[in-house]
Parts: sequence; structure tokens; C-alpha cells
Amino acid sequence: MSGRRQETFDAIVIGAGAAGLMTALTAGQRGRRVLVLDHNDEPGRKILISGGGRCNFTNLHTMPDRFLSQNRHFARSALARYKPADFLALVEKHRIAWHEKTLGQLFCDGSARQILEMLLDECDNGDVTIRLSETVRDVQFSGHFTVETDTHTLTARSLVLATGGLSIPKLGATGFAHRLARQFGVPLVPPAPGLVPLQANIEDLEWMPALSGVSLPVRVQNGRTAFEEAMLFTHKGLSGPAILQISSFWKPGQSIRIDLLPDKDAFETLRDARTGRSRAHAVAILAELMPRRLAEVLGPRLLGGKAAGEWPDKMLRAAAETLKNWQFSPSGTEGYAKAEVTTGGVDTKALSSRTMASTTLPQLYFVGEAVDVTGWLGGYNFQWAWASGHAAGTAL
Ligand code: FDA
Repeated sequence: MSGRRQETFDAIVIGAGAAGLMTALTAGQRGRRVLVLDHNDEPGRKILISGGGRCNFTNLHTMPDRFLSQNRHFARSALARYKPADFLALVEKHRIAWHEKTLGQLFCDGSARQILEMLLDECDNGDVTIRLSETVRDVQFSGHFTVETDTHTLTARSLVLATGGLSIPKLGATGFAHRLARQFGVPLVPPAPGLVPLQANIEDLEWMPALSGVSLPVRVQNGRTAFEEAMLFTHKGLSGPAILQISSFWKPGQSIRIDLLPDKDAFETLRDARTGRSRAHAVAILAELMPRRLAEVLGPRLLGGKAAGEWPDKMLRAAAETLKNWQFSPSGTEGYAKAEVTTGGVDTKALSSRTMASTTLPQLYFVGEAVDVTGWLGGYNFQWAWASGHAAGTAL
């Protein structure tokens, strides 16, 4: 006979990321025998690289309207039962120094590794077993789950899928949760890259790459959704917080409105320049309103080479319109390789919002990014991982 080892647990969690570890520590501390499996050789890789290495672990302004989902109300219950203050209490219990950066975003003063170590410590307190470098070969259900890995046959009453979304395959992201959902007849909302840079179309690529590295505050809008944050020109298109935020809402074929002077009436400003600074040229005038490199590209394109006093009304109006209402038509996104998150995923209409369990197979749970709940940029995605993990961990 083969040397396969057999073991039984109350719950098996697949995925040792943010949501999986939170599920496991919560259930473990309630006395459940929990096993966490991950195919990576270390847990929480995304936690380690998050927030530029300082982990933006929550957002003080967390509320359901900061999340995208086909069911806007789904996240409400879990978010109400595990709040940013609850996670902060854990952070403080572990004496991890933190600060608010901006817009309610909380970061570690030190390193993201402190958050991972805190979660692993709490898993330890709950006697959670974590096995890394484990490849799951097969999952079957017959009153209980049987999980076959390369080396073990594992059985458990409950199974939690915490394998995240498709973003950043090189960190170990897979579509495993989506595959298991299909296997057990749980519907999916088509996934797409979210919080991702947008690529310029061929025409814009003639002039935009020269601006790579230029950043400025803008207002971006897609339909009724708008964000006011910084935008960054890249050698492929646009990025920066404003663009990442709006990218989660963008669909192929749509254009995005960009206001390059969000605090100004561009027409009035240019008209005042025409009378007050009639000998100045466009670049000098625009450079007072935006980064000089951008002014150098936009000035001649929008206002020609003549001094302000000679700008005709029609040109001035068209320039103001472009500055306030630039219709940027991306050719696409930079894809899962660069996306911070995956939108879509396991359809929430097939899950209990209280427990994250499948409504047709209540011993099967989905948590974190695998579920069709995607937060804005700024700590919301981790808060969803903590809240959904806590909801499942409390129910297991
Ligand atoms: P997560 O992806 O964290 O974990 C899934 C786990 O499952 C991984 O350990 C993976 O190895 C494992 N796995 C996958 N397939 C498997 C398989 N077939 N078998 C076994 N194991 C498998 N959010 C935020 O709120 N603040 C921030 O600062 C940042 N910063 C940030 C930076 C970057 C570069 C990225 C890419 C993302 C962020 N995010 C973020 C988003 C955040 O990291 C993300 O939403 C959460 O990590 C999702 O947590 P999950 O536990 O659901 O998945």
C-alpha cells in the first residue's frame, strides 16, 4: 500500500492568505480542529508586499458602499460584525505601531510582516495546523469533505475556500476557488482585473509615454462613479490611485472622463490669462496650474504657439473643455499581472451573508477575494478579508 497519511479535522481551509488565516484563527480559538493548506512555501505573500511593505491593513471609513458587488448589500452583515476597530484592537494587543496615512488608511509604522506574524501567533493560540507547499489534487463531498493532497488524504466536516482571486499569478494566485465553485454548482460572476493601470490606445501612445513619471491630482469619472486622487502617467498609459480606483468600474469600450484641473474653472483661468498675461505663452501659463512636463506637452497641442493675447475664443473654449473633460479611451488594462485585486468571483446570491456558506451545500464556505466583493483602494480589501474570514470562522 502507498504511504499516504490520513487525518481528520473539523475544518480544512485552503489558502493561507489574509482571509484564510482569519477564518482559521477564529475557528481554532473556538475549539475547532482546523487545518490550513497552501501551495506556496510561505503564508500570506500578499500581506507581505501590501501597502508598499507596510500593509494598509484597514480603513476607518469602511462601509458597504466602498465595495463593488452584484449585490451591494451582501457585505453589510459581515462588515457590521467585524469592524476596523476590531482588527485595530488585535493590532494593539500585539503592540504593532501604526499610523493613519490619509483618507482613513491605516498602515504599520514598521513592516507588513508584523501583521502576518500576528495572524500566525493567533492561529497558534487556536492550535491551528498550517501546512505549506501542499498541492490539492482532488476534493470530494459525501456527507463530509475528502481532500487529497500529494501526500495526505484529509477529511473534514467543513471546507473553506480562501484561495483569493487571479491577481498576481507569480505570487501564487490561481482560479482554484472558482474551479471548486463550478465543481459544486456554485455560480460565478465573471472575474476581471481590478485596481489596475489602464493602457493607452494607439493614438494616445504617440504623446503620452513622454510624460511617464508625471503625477498630478485629478478627478476621474466613469458613469456616476468619481474619485479625486492622484494620477500617474506611465510608459503604457495611466496609473496612480485615481486610475486604480476607477479601473475597477471600467468596462472595455468605455471611456473615462478626466478633469486635469479639478479645483479650477479652466475657461475662466485661461480667459483671465489672456487679458492679464497677454504676452505669456501657453506653456508658462499651464505650468502654473500643473506639472511643467505636462504643460510642455499640452500647451502647444491645446493652445498653439502664439501669446495668450492672441488666443481666439474658440480655441480657448476647446482647450478648457479638454482640460476639464478629457475623454480617455483605454485600449485595456495591464491585466492580472499588475492588478491589485480581482473583481467578480463567487456569486454572492449563492452564499449566506452571515456565514459565507454555500446556500446549497452549507458545509462549503468561500471567503475573501474569491467572493464577488471588491473593495476600493485603501485597506478595504483586507477589511473584507478579515470580516468575511471572521464570519466563516464564527460559523464553522
Ligand atoms: P490572498 O491572495 O491573500 O490569499 C490566497 C492564498 O491562497 C495564497 O496564500 C495562495 O498561495 C493560496 N492559493 C491560491 N491557489 C491555491 C491552490 N490552488 N492551492 C493552495 N493554495 C492556494 N489590500 C489592502 O486592503 N491593503 C493593501 O495595502 C493592499 N496592498 C496590495 C498590494 C498588492 C501588490 C496586491 C497584489 C494586493 C494588495 N491588496 C491590498 C489586496 C489584498 O492583498 C487582497 O485583497 C487580499 O490579500 C485578499 O485576501 P485573500 O486571503 O482572499 O487572498
